[in-house]
Amino acid sequence: MTEQWNSPDKFNREAALWDENPQRRALAQCVAKAIIAVANPEKNMHALEFGCGTGLVTLEIAPLVKTVSAVDTSQEMLAVLRNKIKISGIANVEATCLDFSLPSGSEWHEKSFELIYSSMTLHHIDDTEGFLSRISNFLSPGGILAFADLDLEDGLFHDDPLEKVHHGFDRGTLAEMLNTAGLQPISFETIYTFNKTNRSGKTAAYTVFLVTATKIDNKQLQHNV
Ligand SMILES: C[S@@+](CC[C@H](N)C(=O)[O-])C[C@H]1O[C@@H](n2cnc3c(N)ncnc32)[C@H](O)[C@@H]1O
Repeated sequence: MTEQWNSPDKFNREAALWDENPQRRALAQCVAKAIIAVANPEKNMHALEFGCGTGLVTLEIAPLVKTVSAVDTSQEMLAVLRNKIKISGIANVEATCLDFSLPSGSEWHEKSFELIYSSMTLHHIDDTEGFLSRISNFLSPGGILAFADLDLEDGLFHDDPLEKVHHGFDRGTLAEMLNTAGLQPISFETIYTFNKTNRSGKTAAYTVFLVTATKIDNKQLQHNV
């Protein structure tokens, strides 16, 4: 069956065993470490993860910030995260089912975050440019956006050839899109390499970058002039 963009079915099916994959856990550790190094999370920050899945990254960031809004379209991935939150008595993570590729509901219009991050989710969003422009509205002036995703790949990273995804991103093109969305890229760094046997049976290396960007504080700019 042809999957649609942002179809939660695949992730609902995979949720129960998601954390069993050692490469996923290792990647999440690298992503969290890199975000912490570059964004320097603080206890007064409100953070947002879009595409939080089972919370592998969010549960590393949560102890360092005031709150995390963890958002995903898959109820089953969120159920795994909610169970971890309950078992560990975590009070500052709120898991919400929301499609971030669509304009958000009115209850979200007032929200803003000092830190917005994601891991391996951007390639699941069809309209990257439109999405970046929408998410930029949720970033506080001076806030940090940190997204981890695949560099341009051979189109064989995902096992299902029918799954609708971007085949990674060209760093220069993504930097331009971030600029267009009112964000100033700070850095790109390679943070992880998947060595995997792809669906053609060949072992290939797929690199993951972390891009960080900030929202220019216009008030600060005017003040400095
Ligand atoms: C590859 S998984 C990564 C999960 C998690 N970040 C991790 O590192 O384990 C992508 C996640 O993004 C979610 N997702 C896909 N499209 C989304 C959208 N439009 N809005 C919110 N979440 C989305 C999926 O349900 C899935 O949990």
